Amino acid sequence: MFGKIPTLLPALLLARCVLSATPDEWRGRSIYQVVTDRFALADNSTSQPCDVSARKYCGGTWKGITNHLDYIQNMGFDAVWISPVVENIENETAYGEAYHGYWAQDIYSLNNHFGSKDDLNELVTAMHFRGMYLMLDIVVNHLVSVPKNGSTDIQTLDFSLIQPFSNASDYHPYCEITDYNNQTDVEQCWIGDKKLPLADLNTEDKDIVNTMNEWVKDIVKKYNVDGLRIDTAKHIRKDFWPEFVASAGTFAMGEVLSDNTTYTAAYTEVIGGVLDYPTWFPLTAAFTSPKGNLSALATSAVQARKQYKNGAFLTGAFLENHDQPRFQSITQDQALVKNAMMWPFVHDSIPILYYGQEQGYTGNNDPNNREALWPSNFDTSKPLVNHVKAMNAARKAAIAANSSYTTAPMSFLAQSDNGLVVSKPPLVALLTNVGNSSTAATTWDIPASTFKGSETVVNVLDCKTMTAAPDGSLHVRVQGGMPQLLLPGSVLSKSGNLCTKVAAGGKSGAGFSTQASWSLVWGFLGLGLGKALMHM
Ligand SMILES: *[C@@H]1O[C@H](CO)[C@@H](O)[C@H](O)[C@H]1NC(C)=O
Ligand SMILES: *[C@@H]1O[C@H](CO)[C@@H](O)[C@H](O)[C@H]1NC(C)=O
Ligand SMILES: *[C@@H]1O[C@H](CO)[C@@H](O)[C@H](O)[C@H]1NC(C)=O
Ligand SMILES: *[C@@H]1O[C@H](CO)[C@@H](O)[C@H](O)[C@H]1NC(C)=O
Ligand SMILES: *[C@@H]1O[C@H](CO)[C@@H](O)[C@H](O)[C@H]1NC(C)=O
Ligand SMILES: *[C@@H]1O[C@H](CO)[C@@H](O)[C@H](O)[C@H]1NC(C)=O
Ligand SMILES: *[C@@H]1O[C@H](CO)[C@@H](O)[C@H](O)[C@H]1NC(C)=O
Ligand SMILES: *[C@@H]1O[C@H](CO)[C@@H](O)[C@H](O)[C@H]1NC(C)=O
Ligand SMILES: *[C@@H]1O[C@H](CO)[C@@H](O)[C@H](O)[C@H]1NC(C)=O
Repeated sequence: MFGKIPTLLPALLLARCVLSATPDEWRGRSIYQVVTDRFALADNSTSQPCDVSARKYCGGTWKGITNHLDYIQNMGFDAVWISPVVENIENETAYGEAYHGYWAQDIYSLNNHFGSKDDLNELVTAMHFRGMYLMLDIVVNHLVSVPKNGSTDIQTLDFSLIQPFSNASDYHPYCEITDYNNQTDVEQCWIGDKKLPLADLNTEDKDIVNTMNEWVKDIVKKYNVDGLRIDTAKHIRKDFWPEFVASAGTFAMGEVLSDNTTYTAAYTEVIGGVLDYPTWFPLTAAFTSPKGNLSALATSAVQARKQYKNGAFLTGAFLENHDQPRFQSITQDQALVKNAMMWPFVHDSIPILYYGQEQGYTGNNDPNNREALWPSNFDTSKPLVNHVKAMNAARKAAIAANSSYTTAPMSFLAQSDNGLVVSKPPLVALLTNVGNSSTAATTWDIPASTFKGSETVVNVLDCKTMTAAPDGSLHVRVQGGMPQLLLPGSVLSKSGNLCTKVAAGGKSGAGFSTQASWSLVWGFLGLGLGKALMHM
């Protein structure tokens, strides 16, 4: 199936491999986030157990990811966010081993639990060959060493193992963050706790700043990284970031864990992108139960859009990640789950899906939300796998149909506590939080001129068709609280990768055609490249 492509591509791909991706090149992307240790084993086996509560390495590797790129790409993702790659503290800590990669000890070496330098290069090459982007997770705020002698005495911290910052003077003097409203406290005191203090790098020191700027430039170049996810960004002074990001020379998205839009928006000025945490809080609340408030979610989203530097564009929208309880630990009502999952995919942001959500994983707080994926056998018949596939495909079809899709902001055509009509022409998403046990039907009134008069409109989640009224309005009524993802039939026929029976003018029918994968392949190559190849 992929047989023909290799002969056509190398020259074209080589051209883009030397450049890191710019923010604009990320706009239309869709990110799959993995915890490298928990995604896939190098030998492709699936029976090895992984006890999350032990907080130890379970064996996932870069090779494992390389071997399972089909799984990721077939769901429609064209970017993968992997765990930090640098060497971490080897000794077991009070909180287990550094399997997640966030406890760096030597920023110039790789974490050999995840494989060799060749394995990492092989992963990046394989991804670029498929037209996929690699997003690398990095930590600047802290490095880690354990107190000597199993002590909890901070004075016994052994910095000698840390590279290149092996002197106590490279760090801020120890203090615990006691006041999160005091930004100096947040930036210069240490996160972690006495059992595992995370040594807070003195990012006010000019030499340290230069070292980190050089480091990021080198690691991006060395591994052909396309983008960065920056851990604990709010714990470093804001004016550290512009030079750092410029030195990296690639798109970056900062983690600013806050529900405060104004606070978070300030980081979009210095980093460019952030993870959209201020919208994650109302998102989770909105779909937790029928008592949630979709109107409040829409209101927050509009506030965020107004305050972020680039609107919500270039921020990362997510429902789950490795730091928060999985959504299905809160509710397993599949109607609520499918609605909540849809938000990141119909938003202006770059959607991010945390591995395992598509398999219906239910882990709650860290470490339970870092389950191994291999026991799922990477089952592609799961309902949520198909849900994700349809959402990614619909978004790509909309992007292909409208050149301003990734620059024109979304709007809400109707909103209430229990219903929301999201518009990103030509896509319309209907969301509800009534849940699957609701006996009442949900109705959405889509206003006139949304669609072309009397055109065929398809819900790509089940491939059922409807017809818009002569004035372009549409009244949709469903039982069971399921979301609807609507595209005009004309857009489907052009993209040709979902609901193809309907798009071709036939009767409603579910599923993807065999052509789907081909179209996805073309899609991944990016529009320009895709077109060039089509004409060969
Ligand atoms: C693992 O799967 C990949 C991709 O299907 C394949 O290329 C590789 O040979 C497999 N490795 C082993 C050890 O089976
Ligand atoms: C880390 O572990 C090694 C070997 O397991 C041991 O020799 C060393 O003392 C430990 N270091 C600390 C700081 O506990
Ligand atoms: C190690 O810890 C024990 C018990 O806390 C203490 O008595 C001893 O002095 C410590 N040794 C060193 C070298 O710090
Ligand atoms: C290490 O830091 C101390 C102060 O904490 C300083 O006196 C000493 O010169 C530093 N050593 C090196 C090699 O930089
Ligand atoms: C803020 O935190 C810093 C560092 O911990 C501290 O020196 C300062 O007094 C605090 N400011 C206020 C107003 O509490
Ligand atoms: C949100 O953050 C802004 C800017 O840091 C601050 O002025 C404001 O007080 C915060 N709002 C709340 C409710 O904490
Ligand atoms: C839901 O949110 C909207 C917008 O923020 C607000 O006007 C409305 O009162 C909220 N509903 C409830 C029941 O709190
Ligand atoms: C609705 O969700 C509940 C879990 O909250 C589940 O037990 C039930 O089977 C679901 N019903 C349908 C029709 O999906
Ligand atoms: C493309 O998007 C813009 C901005 O949302 C909208 O005005 C326009 O009608 C859309 N075009 C199509 C063909 O959907």
